[in-house]
Amino acid sequence: MPMPKAEAPAAVDDATFEVPRHVAIIMDGNGRWASARGLPRTEGHRRGVEALRKTVRAAGDMGIGVLTIFSFSSENWSRPPAEVRDLMGLLKLFIRHDLAELHRSNVRVRVIGEREGLAPDIRRLLEEAEELTRDNNGLILIVAFNYGARQEIARAAQKLAADVLAGNMPIEGITAEALGRNLDAADLPDPDLIIRTSGEQRLSNFLLWQAAYSELVFVPTYWPDFDRATLEGAIAEYRRRERRFGGLVARTGS
Ligand code: IPE
Ligand code: IPE
Ligand code: MG
Repeated sequence: MPMPKAEAPAAVDDATFEVPRHVAIIMDGNGRWASARGLPRTEGHRRGVEALRKTVRAAGDMGIGVLTIFSFSSENWSRPPAEVRDLMGLLKLFIRHDLAELHRSNVRVRVIGEREGLAPDIRRLLEEAEELTRDNNGLILIVAFNYGARQEIARAAQKLAADVLAGNMPIEGITAEALGRNLDAADLPDPDLIIRTSGEQRLSNFLLWQAAYSELVFVPTYWPDFDRATLEGAIAEYRRRERRFGGLVARTGS
């Protein structure tokens, strides 16, 4: 009589590895990466784009639902004009060079931040990226460009104030939930994990509202050296955290 087949062990493959739904990254340290090598800062930014490509691929492979990347802050305009030009040029290059590939990989691109004040060609490219990929249902890549959280919150407050002024809403309608609903990517979950590279330990006006209960992981790696292993390390750290959301029940990550 044939032996009954042994019960297969529960699958513990990569596909079932628990990952946070939403990871946000402050990509910092391009300039210092370059300086440490005697290279111009622009070379650090160029290498940073390569790290971004790899990270988007890794995030998709790992089954992360939403990846938000901080590409250019509202305050980065205060850098020398040549560096601002470089950073704008790199965004254009990234979209022109990578959009087709992102689309093929089923990535949906969304952009948060202030569109006003951006050069028309940049605005067109951002719109094109969103338009082309709008029906994709793989990784959602949120590009925070010309983004500042305080400005985003102020814009949301303006929308609510306009509703009150128009008589469409009582002043009591201005609640935390209502404000949250008027932020740039309000339909998506808050980040579970925010990673900042380069050893700096601050948010620099990134997702201040949405970060209320995010786990923060700071890694010493300069952004151009960030790769799949660094991402996995940060997620492993996240999984060791206990998320309580103000209650008493500890919830591990994800
Ligand atoms: C991050 O690297 C890229 C942007 C802020 C656009 P930095 O340019 O801030 O590099 P460091 O912090 O000066 O090393
Ligand atoms: C935050 O980095 C902005 C981006 C990564 C786009 P910064 O380098 O601008 O932040 P600070 O000035 O060190 O706080
Ligand atoms: Mg920096």
